[in-house]
Amino acid sequence: VEADAAWRDEVRRLARQRDAVLLAHNYQLPEIQDIADHTGDSLALSRIAAASEASTIVFCGVHFMAETAKILSPHKTVLIPDARAGCSLADSIDADQLRAWKAEHPGAVVVSYVNTTAEVKAETDICCTSSNAVDVVASIPADREVLFLPDQFLGAHVRRETGRDNLHVWAGECHVHAGINGPELAARAAAEPDADLFVHPECGCATSALYLAGEGVVPAEQVKILSTGDMVTEARATHAKTVLVATEVGMLHQLRRAAPEVDFRAVNDRASCRYMKMITPAALLRSLREGADEVHVDPMVAERARGAVRRMIEIGK
Ligand code: 13P
Ligand code: SF4
Repeated sequence: VEADAAWRDEVRRLARQRDAVLLAHNYQLPEIQDIADHTGDSLALSRIAAASEASTIVFCGVHFMAETAKILSPHKTVLIPDARAGCSLADSIDADQLRAWKAEHPGAVVVSYVNTTAEVKAETDICCTSSNAVDVVASIPADREVLFLPDQFLGAHVRRETGRDNLHVWAGECHVHAGINGPELAARAAAEPDADLFVHPECGCATSALYLAGEGVVPAEQVKILSTGDMVTEARATHAKTVLVATEVGMLHQLRRAAPEVDFRAVNDRASCRYMKMITPAALLRSLREGADEVHVDPMVAERARGAVRRMIEIGK
C-alpha cells in the first residue's frame, strides 16, 4: 500500500511538472483509472483532449485514441505509456483497402469508427464512436450511400436503428467483443431473468440481445445497447439489482464506482483487451519520467483527417 502511495505521489508530481493531463479509457486497469484526471469513453476523452489547456496529454488507452488527440491538437505533446497498445479492430482495414472500397462506391459518404488509423481517418468524411454512430449516420441525407467501417456489429446496429438499406458495412471486428457471443448472453440472461443487460454494440451478441427482447425472453426495457460512457450514466439510473455487462471487463470498475449497490457481472469474464492492459502502473511512470512514447501523426495526414474528427466531436450528446 505504501508503494502504491509512493507511485501515486510520483505520478501526480511528474504530471504537474510536465503540465500534463492524464486521460484514461474505461477499459484501463483500476489503478490507472483511479489516478487519471478524467476517465470516459472514446468520444468524451476526445472532447476533453481537444478542450484541455494542458500542453501535454498522456493518453492511457490505445494508440488510435492518442492519435486522435494528436490530430485534434497538433501543437500539443501527446504521450501514450506504451506505443505497442494497438487495436485489432483498427487493424482490420488499412487506407489502401478503404481507397479500393470507395472506388467501388463513388459518391458514397465514408463514416469511420474512431477505432481506425490516422491514415484511414484521412480518407474519411465523418468519424464516429459507439456513442454517436447512429446520430452521425442520421445526419447524412437519406438518399446518399454510406460506407460504414470497420466494425460489422456496430454497423449492423446502426443499420437497424436508422433503417437505412444504403449503408454498406465493412466486415471487421474487435476480437474481444466478437467473442462475447449470443448463446452465452442468452444462457446468462435466462439464469438472471430480472437483470438488466448492458451490451456494447461491438459485441457479437448485440443482435441476440435485441432478439431476446423482441421474443419477450427478456423484457425490452431491460436490454440496453450502450457505449462505455453511456453504461456509466445508465448505471446511476437503473433500478435493477443485477446488471449483466457485455463488454471488456475493465468496464466493471467504473460501473461499480458509479453504483456500488448494484451487482455488476461480466457476461464473459475472459473478455479482456490485452492492448488496453499494456498500460501498467510502471509504464505510466516511465512515460512521465521519460516523456515517452510520443505519438506523431504525419502533418499532411493529420490535416486531411482533422475535418472528419472535428465533425465527430460536434455530433451527438
Ligand atoms: P467506447 O468507449 O467509445 O464505447 O469504445 C469502446 C472500445 O472498444 C474502445 O476500444
Ligand atoms: Fe480495440 Fe477491441 Fe481492444 Fe477496444 S477492446 S481497443 S476495439 S481490440
